[in-house]
Amino acid sequence: MNTDHIDWMTQSVNQAQKLHPYVPGKPVQQLLREQGLDELQIEQQVSQTIKLASNENPYGVPPQAVQAMQDAASEVHRYPDGDCFALKQALASEHGVETSQLLVGNGSNEVLELIIRCFAGVGDEVVYSQRGFIVYALATTAAGATAVAVPEADGLTHDLKAMAAAVQANTKVICLANPNNPTGSLLATDALQTFLDGLPRHVVVILDEAYYEYVQDDISDSIHALNHPGLIVSRTFSKAYGLAGCRVGYAVADSDLLAVVNRFREPFNVNSLAQAGAVGALRDKEWLLEKVAACKKERLRLEDGLLERGCFMAKSYANFVLLQHEKSLDICQRLEDKGVIVRPLAPYGMADVLRVSVGNFDENTAFLSALDDVLAELP
Ligand SMILES: Cc1ncc(COP(=O)(O)O)c(C=O)c1O
Repeated sequence: MNTDHIDWMTQSVNQAQKLHPYVPGKPVQQLLREQGLDELQIEQQVSQTIKLASNENPYGVPPQAVQAMQDAASEVHRYPDGDCFALKQALASEHGVETSQLLVGNGSNEVLELIIRCFAGVGDEVVYSQRGFIVYALATTAAGATAVAVPEADGLTHDLKAMAAAVQANTKVICLANPNNPTGSLLATDALQTFLDGLPRHVVVILDEAYYEYVQDDISDSIHALNHPGLIVSRTFSKAYGLAGCRVGYAVADSDLLAVVNRFREPFNVNSLAQAGAVGALRDKEWLLEKVAACKKERLRLEDGLLERGCFMAKSYANFVLLQHEKSLDICQRLEDKGVIVRPLAPYGMADVLRVSVGNFDENTAFLSALDDVLAELP
């Protein structure tokens, strides 16, 4: 009997056991259930509890997206458009690309997984930063490929020289988030182009720009400014566009390359309401710009607040800030007890750091006040 598949399965299980599973930001209802509240109490408490753990948009859903989803609701007895025609048209016009250069997914998470699964398998390597988005590691392992996690230069920023040096003949994919989650660091366009210029042409580079809308004034538009045959830029409607619950993200790349990835996706991977909502959100430019500006202002206020309290770690370019404290896990627990959910970064090897999503003015005020109380009561 050929036992190769058993060896391979055992190897995958061993590899998977070394991984930290993806632990999403704790939903408000889950926290309240953990605190022992019954359904009625949960209903009463929900609005008093603040979730700053998943980098969502705290200002809600763009009005034009709500309208578009309401209009689409009466058609959900039909399957969605498997090719996302209207959404691709809107994205193509937004970015000045052909619709064949677009891949739409159930969140950019699906886009990332599809690309990794498509281009990397057993015997191949996928290179990413040690403190890069955890889904790269999970998708690499699921694909049976070998993960090569490169330490950051300063603990926060991708070390592009070291990443280039890690590329071997069997490196198939490189994943880079810019700005990076969870560290919030940003790489300049020219540094990225120099990195791309040094790579073998066959390597697929996923430039994950889930937080692009927060830095579009700081860097060039990678879709047009960067040049590499295997470059795939991924973006999402989950953050600045306020549609995290819809699950819709996309990638822009060479048409031939995406035609291959398209064969890997399920036929109806993006639901009708998500497609309609995303088209509506793209129309609501004013809303987007206003909310991004508000978020950046609030981010500064939070960073100043952390600085004053001696817990500031580094400047962030995304919609979250980093709180550094030797008792971070204790702080995290005590904040939860006071109804504020933040995200511990221990799974990223940053045991003394909490990631705090930028909320709206009231949420951030409540967070800073809860933090004051927690810092005062720490043993
Ligand atoms: C860097 C990065 N990439 C991708 C994603 C996935 O986002 P989504 O699947 O909601 O588009 C996230 C979500 O937090 C992220 O931080």
